Amino acid sequence: MTHPIISAIEERRTTNLFDASRGISDDQISELVRLATRAPTSFNLQNWRFVAVRSPEQKTRLRKLAWDQAKVTEAAVTFIICGQLTDERVLAERLAPVVAAGIMPATMVSGWEAGARNLYRDQPWRQRDEAVRTATFGAGTLIFAAHALGLGSSPMIGFDPDAVSQEFGLGPDEVPVMLVGVGYATPENWPQKPRRPLSQVLEFV
Ligand SMILES: Cc1cc2nc3c(=O)[nH]c(=O)nc-3n(C[C@H](O)[C@H](O)[C@H](O)COP(=O)(O)O)c2cc1C
Repeated sequence: MTHPIISAIEERRTTNLFDASRGISDDQISELVRLATRAPTSFNLQNWRFVAVRSPEQKTRLRKLAWDQAKVTEAAVTFIICGQLTDERVLAERLAPVVAAGIMPATMVSGWEAGARNLYRDQPWRQRDEAVRTATFGAGTLIFAAHALGLGSSPMIGFDPDAVSQEFGLGPDEVPVMLVGVGYATPENWPQKPRRPLSQVLEFV
């Protein structure tokens, strides 16, 4: 039998057409984000935030900043997935539950802090790269969580990031990396598109 994760990878498609008459509950939204945050992040930094834009008024505001893409309002919820610019100074707090769970010895924390300090402190480019990686892993995991819950999803980069930051009150350390619309898909959506052949994208060394 095909493993359900393999099936999800094979079946998932980008939803362009949502059934605008069907909403999802705040509990479902919370569950999607709970699952999304199971994605891995560098040093377990968890430098992300998910803004769930789900009221008709707020979705309309967001759509104006997102190339007037209809799916921003037709999706039950459109997430603004943010990555946060950060460095080792958040790590003590982020790793404390890992130590408390008995996974990591307390003595290891300072080593991770030193590594993260080397990588990120006063390195705005690397911080930005990490923010984008973190939010992208979160978005990818959210997309598959949505699929597993019978929902379609639509990642979008067609938006004005500065305007979204300003209008939705993002912090100066927050990068709006991607919008992801989630809701019930209509049957007319295209299937997953063919991909480039492996010979073009895979190199064995
Ligand atoms: C990072 C990213 C940004 C995207 N931005 C948009 C967008 O702004 N508008 C849109 O209609 N589709 C957008 N797409 C959807 C892509 O066109 C779609 O995922 C791609 O064609 C593959 O579709 P499939 O997964 O259904 O095969 C985006 C996808 C990704 C991954």
